Amino acid sequence: MAEVTLSGVTVRYGTTTALDALDLHVPDGAFMVLLGPTGAGKTTTLRAVSGLTRPDAGEVRIGGQEVTGLTPAQRNVAMVFQQYSLYPHLTVRENLEFPLKSPLLRTPRDAMAQKVTRVAETLQIAHKLDNKATALSGGEMQRVSIGRALVRDPVAYLMDEPLSSLDAKLRADLRIELKSIQADSGATILYVTHDQIEAMTMATHVGVLDEGRLVQTGTPREIYEDPVSIYAASRLGLPRINILPADLFGTAPPGARSIGLRPEQIRQGEGQDARVTRVERLGDQTRLHLNFRDHDIVTVTDPHTALRRGDVVAIAPHRPFFFAADGARIRA
Ligand SMILES: Nc1ncnc2c1ncn2[C@@H]1O[C@H](COP(=O)(O)OP(=O)(O)OP(=O)(O)O)[C@@H](O)[C@H]1O
Ligand SMILES: [Mg+2]
Repeated sequence: MAEVTLSGVTVRYGTTTALDALDLHVPDGAFMVLLGPTGAGKTTTLRAVSGLTRPDAGEVRIGGQEVTGLTPAQRNVAMVFQQYSLYPHLTVRENLEFPLKSPLLRTPRDAMAQKVTRVAETLQIAHKLDNKATALSGGEMQRVSIGRALVRDPVAYLMDEPLSSLDAKLRADLRIELKSIQADSGATILYVTHDQIEAMTMATHVGVLDEGRLVQTGTPREIYEDPVSIYAASRLGLPRINILPADLFGTAPPGARSIGLRPEQIRQGEGQDARVTRVERLGDQTRLHLNFRDHDIVTVTDPHTALRRGDVVAIAPHRPFFFAADGARIRA
């Protein structure tokens, strides 16, 4: 496996700058998750690493070697695409064997059969090996496309929301599988997801992308507990961080425009009265929607709460974040 480094990588599509002099370092053996809203440049970053997109400027290095001018095949990275594409006329087995049959790899037949079986079992798709790719559900196709990456021995895996169309149980299983594949093999993985739990549980590193630039990197906990801006703070956390006027609860530090409150930064039962507008029971979480001085606040509460719409509950900020007018964090 290998480290991956992008230096000053710019990718333009016409007048759109998808990546804007992006610097990104994925250490050897890291599981880096890229976070960012739609259009932030996540897929473009993966395409630049894989060689499918040639940057307009900048340099891509894999394992210390410059690969900017090399073809995808020469880079030996395995990519799982956001829109999975299988060979429809081939069976699941043939789809999984396909990457191993490339002239560069020329895998012996026995080794190939073994790998395909093992990967199919990991992905819980072994019973479909002889099905045509067209005779699969969306979630099964997605698993086969993950499998086509896993059968290989690439220097790095690039995965673009690989678990997005799977049901909750399978997602949970595969989260654990991918994490243990990474831990066991020491694989370097660059992974895109919108899923909070995937980011928090699988990532060793998180990179926050904003309009083709990296605005923060760190462990998931660092991004969650010590965000550099409103933008970074909003990428992790469910319910989302509440962003409110800085002085809503009292005096704010100089230069502060907003106060940021995650659920654990809101004490209940002390402070000033807020009105309950809704109690939302999600099973694993009970959300409390509040109105405080005409501002809506969402937090979590005890699943056995007796609170109901119209009740009053006292709240107080506890170690909140403050942000300046431009969204940057103000540190105490
Ligand atoms: N082939 C293309 N032609 C023109 N513009 C493109 C092309 N591919 C991407 N873009 C633009 O580049 C920007 C970054 O796109 P990218 O696909 O990397 O976003 P993303 O972060 O993967 O978003 P999503 O979460 O929706 O998948 C967007 O503004 C997008 O519209
Ligand atoms: Mg994308």
